[in-house]
Parts: sequence; C-alpha cells; structure tokens
Amino acid sequence: VPVPRTLPGGFRKLAVDDRRAALVGLAGTLPLESTGSGDALQMAELLVENAVGVIPIPLGVATGFVVDGEALHVPMATEEASVIAAASYGARLFAARGGFVTAADAAIATVQIILQADANREELAAAAAQVRTAARRIGAAVDAALPTLVARGGGFRGLFADLLDTGEPGETRAGTLKVEIDVDVRDAMGANKVNTAGEHVASLIEELTGARRLMAIVTNASPRSLVRAQGNVAAGLLARPGWPGADVVHRIVAAAGVADADPHRAVTHNKGIMNGISAVALATGNDTRAVEAAAHGWAAARGAYQSLSSYQVGADGSLECAIELPLPVGTVGGAVDLNPVAQMSLRLLGDPSSRRLARIAAAVGLAQNVAALRALVTEGIQAGHMRLHAARLAFASGARGDEVDVVAGELVASAAAGSPMARTTAGDLLRRLRATPAGD
Ligand code: MEV
Repeated sequence: VPVPRTLPGGFRKLAVDDRRAALVGLAGTLPLESTGSGDALQMAELLVENAVGVIPIPLGVATGFVVDGEALHVPMATEEASVIAAASYGARLFAARGGFVTAADAAIATVQIILQADANREELAAAAAQVRTAARRIGAAVDAALPTLVARGGGFRGLFADLLDTGEPGETRAGTLKVEIDVDVRDAMGANKVNTAGEHVASLIEELTGARRLMAIVTNASPRSLVRAQGNVAAGLLARPGWPGADVVHRIVAAAGVADADPHRAVTHNKGIMNGISAVALATGNDTRAVEAAAHGWAAARGAYQSLSSYQVGADGSLECAIELPLPVGTVGGAVDLNPVAQMSLRLLGDPSSRRLARIAAAVGLAQNVAALRALVTEGIQAGHMRLHAARLAFASGARGDEVDVVAGELVASAAAGSPMARTTAGDLLRRLRATPAGD
C-alpha cells in the first residue's frame, strides 16, 4: 500500500481525531496516552491551529527556596535532566544565608510605533518633538483603548520619540520615526495589551507627524522593567573533596569574569541561567520566547554580549551573587488562564503578582547559575549527568519499570570498564536481563 506523503486537503477543518488519523500514514500513530485527550486536547485546539495533541514535558518542583523571607517550592517544566535537582541544590546554598533578596520595577510593557515620512532629518526631529509635546493626548488615547487595565490601576506611563537612523543616505527624504509607549500592564504579560494600544494610537501619531505607520508592535526588550535578585553563599558550603570552599569561591568569580570577557562563554553561562527561568515560565503558562528574547537582548545591552549575573568575594570570604534582567511574565491572561497546570503552578507559589513571579524566577535563575558554576569549576558536570543519561538510554532501548534502574546501573558500570555509553549497549544489556531467569 503506497504511503501518503501529503496531508489531506482541508486538514485544518478536520476534527482533532481525524487530524491524528491523517498523520498515521506520514508519521506513525501518535501515542494517545502521552499526547493528550479530553480537556488537554481541547485546550490545544483553542490555543493553536491544526492541533494534533500535546507533547509531554516533565513538570517538577524545585524545593528549598527562600525568596524575600518566604519559603517556596517552585514548579519547573523542562525536558533537561539535572535542572530541577541543580535548582534545588542552589536554593539550599542561598537559604543557609537567609535566601534571596529581590526587587522589581513596575510591570512596564512597551510598544513601538514605527513610522515613515518623506522628510529630512530636521523635519523628522521636529515631528518627534510634536509627538513628545502631545504626550498627554496620546496617553489619554492609550488609556481609552485599555479601560479594564486602567480600572485595575494600570495604563499609560510615558513615551519616547526620536528619529531612527536606518542607514538611508543623508540626501534621501525617506526618514523613519520611532515612538515607544510605556504601559503599566499590572499582572498581565502585556504584549497583547500594548499591541492593542499601539494600533489604536498609531493614526493619532500619523496625524500629528504627517508620517505613515510602518508597524506597531511590542518590543520584547522590555528595557524599562527590570528584576533583580541577590544572595550570599558561605564558602564552606561550596567545598568539594579536593576543593576547599575558598578555592571554589575564587574559581566561580573567575568563571563569571570569563563570561563577561568572552561572548561565546557568556551565551552558555546565560543559557544555564535560562534553564531555570524558562522552566518556571513554562510551568506557569508563560511565553518562554519572550522571556528568552528579553534576557538575551539585555545581556547584549552594553554593546557586547555579557553575563546576566555578577559575582564577587564577600568580606567574609563568601560568594556574593546577583542577577538583573527584564522578565516579562504574567499571572493573568493568555495561556495562563486556560492552562490548569499553570493555575496549579501559580497556586503552589501562593498566587503571586506578575512582579513577584518575575522575582522568584530571577532567584531560580541565580540558583541555577551558581549550581552550574560550582559543578563546572570543580568536578565538571558530566559526572552528575552520567546516571541520568544511562537511565534515558535504558528507556530509549525499551526498558520499562524496574528494568530502567537495572540496565542504567549496568550501563554505568560497563562504561567505566570501557564500553560505549550508547543505546545499543543498553539494548544488549536489556536483552541479557530479559533472557536471565527471574531469581538469578
Ligand atoms: C547546561 O544546560 C547548562 C550549563 O552549560 C550552564 C553553564 O555552562 O554555565 C551547565
């Protein structure tokens, strides 16, 4: 029977079960038990086009956090082994010295309205000044577009307007104007709100400037809404066999210095921070791409891409740690309201405001970073990963239930004896295990 290589026409209009059935010829059967049914499937249909299911990403809880004096267990969703264990380990290092102290600016989301004009630089500068002069009128129009937000205490907070150098030769009369409007979005992530406001006021700005709108869209840079977390780790807690605590403190400070000096290292250093932050964002139904974009944009804000965290040796020889970044998360709206897992995650965190959630996530990022750096500058991270990696290879080779532990254990032992740590080895071990009569 020839295998169809295309989806049937009208795939979009099919019921979800029929869409799944249509996939069989192309990709094999979707395992129903792990790709959703009932509410989960219906939610997927409400959130995306052409839904065929959900993909299971592990949800876990990092324990032992203390953030601004409050003990917390933090929900994290991630497919990466060791992330939750490392966050919990990091949390305890900080908790021993009272935990994290955090702070956050107001929840400001910013929309950019970009306009084009048949104008030279002076005329554009004058148009930008017109916009600044009309700030109150524009602010009133923004608030008029967002009545429920204003009723909750949010709304227009300010604007910036300037010409934008897009590299056009000075002689041409094709100029670009950039207007940025700040809105306090309270507990929402805010992109939808400011996009609405931006589209609403674009025509007023066109009238004021004589320029034409090119586009109006949120900037995920979130530059005027930063979050900070800091904390202290006693040197003694960082000690490892063969590595006195004071050494580890100095090595972590040196490693952070490398991240500031070398963008290639900074990218990975920050990736480790985002292992924690993105996992909290995902568990709470937030837009992980917006959070990542904001963080990496901020890391490059000083001209070169640098570390999001900073470290120094404290007066008592301890490790002083800090992180600062924009963290555009919400606790209402969008997928957050629809997703029962997100709702559970927020309840676990005590139903925080969006800024509180951002502060907790920043603390998780810092805990994650310290745990990674501690491992990197001592025994390395592979040692801790070995056992989990072996368990995953065992699972991939077909082991289930108790077999996973047995095969993983033998895989680690055989790797130590020189066999490859590979799925084929795991498969061999599994076949041998199954061929061994019970009791042997
Ligand atoms: C792995 O997901 C994260 C690390 O590479 C972070 C780092 O290198 O700092 C361990």
